[in-house]
Amino acid sequence: ATGLVTLDPGYKNTGSTTSAITFLDGEKGVLRYRGYNIEELAEKASFLEVAYLIIFGELPDQASLTKFQTDVTNHTLIHEDMRKIFDGFPTTSHPMVVLSSLISVLSTFYPGSMESNRSDEEVYMSIVRLIAKVPTIAAWSYKNEMGHPVNYPDNSLNYGARFLKMMFALPTQEYDIDPVMVSALNKILILHADHEQNCSTSTIRIVGSSLANIYASVASATNALSGPLHGGANQQVIEMLEAIHSSGATIDEFMEKVKNREMRLMGFGHRVYKNFDPRAKILKKACDDILSKMGIEDPLLDIAKKLEKIALEDEFFIERKLYPNVDFYSGIIYRAMNLPTDMFTVMFAMGRLPGWIAQWKEMLEMKQPIGRPRQIYTGENERSFVPMSDRK
Ligand code: SDX
Repeated sequence: ATGLVTLDPGYKNTGSTTSAITFLDGEKGVLRYRGYNIEELAEKASFLEVAYLIIFGELPDQASLTKFQTDVTNHTLIHEDMRKIFDGFPTTSHPMVVLSSLISVLSTFYPGSMESNRSDEEVYMSIVRLIAKVPTIAAWSYKNEMGHPVNYPDNSLNYGARFLKMMFALPTQEYDIDPVMVSALNKILILHADHEQNCSTSTIRIVGSSLANIYASVASATNALSGPLHGGANQQVIEMLEAIHSSGATIDEFMEKVKNREMRLMGFGHRVYKNFDPRAKILKKACDDILSKMGIEDPLLDIAKKLEKIALEDEFFIERKLYPNVDFYSGIIYRAMNLPTDMFTVMFAMGRLPGWIAQWKEMLEMKQPIGRPRQIYTGENERSFVPMSDRK
């Protein structure tokens, strides 16, 4: 192709596609999945109901939801041969590495997913398998890290309760499902479910555009999410709050470091939201609710609130339109749920999974061409080969 190439590093001003899945308004702080505001969905829907909505486009009627729930429940087990692969990971493995590796490995157990002319049934089953098996893989990656025996999914429980039991049940004692934690998990997964063309979603669209199978495409998105500027930020936020708490440094001293760019205020700022991230608003309130219901006093929440208050009144942040994003409060809730910090981004991936799947599916249904942007070359002009004897 010839003609002008417009450079746009990071695609800050590039629309990569049309999409009917998620609408967000960065100025007004609006986020809707298939037209429904997240405020309503987070209060009134279940995560599987929202996953169905995002992937298939409509809120399911009772029969469709029951079928989807049953299909997911019947596929929560992972093939026993995957245990051998699991056992190969050192306990020092970051759960995001285990998660993306094993999502990729799933394709070897379902060869039908590798065909480029996959049937609709094959696509539906690979969607069900991912939604069903990612929580099992996530919980097992945690058990691998703890050196604890893995728990098999208890299919008498709902999605959230089943995951928490796989995560925290121990052979040494009864595990009681805490409804506060189940409802907090449901809400936080819904809030992460999609976010239009963010880094990891753009990744799944471009990897999927080569007709790579769905498991490879989701594994690629998982890897993109693991970066500290993206999904990895929720782990960074807590580590930042813990550092402030343990260092005894005052918040003003910390803010000075941020303002002279020694570090970033993790969990703040957003490419699109130049006002409050609506998810952060909901999560901030959820923090207060959950911690008070669980009778937890978390000093990091107080530090977070002080940081937010200062940042919202400080010229440096105001002129850069930096507000708390989804990652700023989510870590506080994960801590209340006794999750270790390196599982936080895994929780983000579990929540974002339906969004990745929906965007992958939409890209294929739109028959979009393989992603292949251009560049402006700034390297050397033509030159001849230099024999070793002549090299300096
Ligand atoms: C997610 O895209 C999505 O939708 C992502 C996400 C999703 O749901 O998929 O919403 C999830 O990834 C949320 C973001 C999580 N990341 C963080 O919290 C990490 C900290 N935030 C940033 O690094 C930053 O704000 C980004 C990456 C989120 C956005 O970066 P941009 O849009 O590329 O903006 P930038 O890096 O060019 O910064 C603009 C200015 C710069 O100032 P100058 O150097 O020009 O003077 O703002 C400053 C930056 O230095 N800045 C910050 C800052 N974020 C930006 N300064 C201090 N602390 C920060 N957090």
